Amino acid sequence: MLHLLLEDRLRQAVLTRVPDADPASIRIRPCPDPRFGDYQTSALIGLAKSRGGNPRTLAQEVLGSLNVSDVAAPPELAGAGFINFRVRPEAVARVLDEAAHGVHLFSRPAETPVTVVLDFSSPNVAKPMHVGHIRSTILGDCLARVLRRLGHRVVTDNHLGDWGTQFGKLLVGWKTQLDSAALARDPIGEMERLYKLINAACDSDPATLEAARLELVKLQAGDPENLALWRQMIALSQKEFGAIYSRLAVRFDHTLGESFYNPQLQNVVRELVERGIARESDGALVVFFEDHPELAPHPAIVRKKDGAANYTTTDLATLAYRIETWHPGLIVYVTDGRQQLHFRQVFEAFRRWHPDSRAVQLAHVWFGSILGEDGKPFKARSGDVVRLADLLDEAEERALRIVIEKNPDLAQAEQRAIARRVGIGAVKYADLLPNRQTDYIFSWDKMLALNGNTAPYLQYAYARIRSIFRKLPGTPGSDSPGHTSVPLALAVPEEVRLGKHLLNFGLVIETVAAEFRPNYLCNYLYDLAGHFTAFYEHCPVLKAPEPERSSRLTLCDLTARVLEQGLGLLGIEVIDRM
Ligand code: ARG
Repeated sequence: MLHLLLEDRLRQAVLTRVPDADPASIRIRPCPDPRFGDYQTSALIGLAKSRGGNPRTLAQEVLGSLNVSDVAAPPELAGAGFINFRVRPEAVARVLDEAAHGVHLFSRPAETPVTVVLDFSSPNVAKPMHVGHIRSTILGDCLARVLRRLGHRVVTDNHLGDWGTQFGKLLVGWKTQLDSAALARDPIGEMERLYKLINAACDSDPATLEAARLELVKLQAGDPENLALWRQMIALSQKEFGAIYSRLAVRFDHTLGESFYNPQLQNVVRELVERGIARESDGALVVFFEDHPELAPHPAIVRKKDGAANYTTTDLATLAYRIETWHPGLIVYVTDGRQQLHFRQVFEAFRRWHPDSRAVQLAHVWFGSILGEDGKPFKARSGDVVRLADLLDEAEERALRIVIEKNPDLAQAEQRAIARRVGIGAVKYADLLPNRQTDYIFSWDKMLALNGNTAPYLQYAYARIRSIFRKLPGTPGSDSPGHTSVPLALAVPEEVRLGKHLLNFGLVIETVAAEFRPNYLCNYLYDLAGHFTAFYEHCPVLKAPEPERSSRLTLCDLTARVLEQGLGLLGIEVIDRM
């Protein structure tokens, strides 16, 4: 990859001037504005400033000992002390050739692979998965794919919400109001109905409230009947969650629910108290963060007045277990933004409890809400929360209508198979494309548009390239050009732009992993499809004379492969014909 080569040379040049500079801080990034070059470094600005020097002077000196003439035009000094690089088309072609021969696909594994624990999806038992969980599921799965692709060891753990006071109410409902037929038809729907019913009754009727409390106490004490019902509620819920995960092609290495940590909670609380991290306040045990600038006003309860541990206690036990069991270098939690305070408290309390854990990085990757087209929280027409399963059904149905309209002659089974990939792909992409921390408006028409920054558009771009290869004489159905001995050559500007863009695939994946932001990859692929379209409009491929023809076919194939892999990292399947 050219940016690595440039980075290497730059490091050497810098070290001859500033021998004790930290090489890791000297980095090359794509130039934000292609008019100034392909790559850029701003490293010398910081380096000079940290030594009280003048950035432009340092950059000028470095330029004097920097030789990149084999791969780039003479680098240019710009602005406050940037150095811009413009790579040579021949050098780009060489890297593309390597990719065509399977040496790499423009990316390399991480230099220091680590174990990453990813906590995502984590829905709650007896409640439907809703659109809030969809973002966690899709985002978390994408991060798992990206981190694995970079060679990290990824452990995915679905932290199921399978414990808490709701089970007292659910047990009362189950024992007194269960509609078995409804349970068979729609288990989560029925459990949700029972919960709502008893929850409402608890508000007005102290006897129901007391009954729910007693059922909960019995469950906590290990009453066999209540334990069996509770297990049944979990199993029924997991079956439905599992169906959704398989539609989304999401899988977990572990599903250790909250209840898994029950046996450890007392210990956690005891240790926190013994070490003076938690103390009594108003009958509860509380961690105060008095000396902490942001958390001082937000103490965290770890044992309530009634003696029960809570979500915070469970997360502390979970953290300890994960570190002990998997020895991760990084633990990532994917939830909506409303849990920011919770995770700041958990992380801070955990650091106090385990001061030796500094080597483990803890990250809360949070996201905003999904809004309806009216700008209000996304709701079903009935006013209820939108159930994920219904949402996926609708996505596939809508996609099917489009597929039938575009391909009326295709066999029905094939139309359905395409519609499934298009529909699910559209939903995933719509979720991954916006900056995750902003709210986004859910719009069927936008996400299914064949023109625009959407999954169907990218799937279509891929199918179009595949169709070029189907037209290759003598290779019916062939989907790869085979390896020609013709070296790739980039002459026309559109070819050069496409080639240069392909080179940055790995850099983008690395940035996605570093910042937990799949939207970079979405936009990269969208731009790739755009560069490809420009290329395809300007450069005949099948009708071009050799050697252009072979060279351009290779460019087509590389584009298709990057589209396929890139979409794959987003959890989106490609389609050969659309
Ligand atoms: N079950 C929680 C919810 O639906 C999410 C759990 C996230 N993970 C965690 N370790 N707290 O909001």
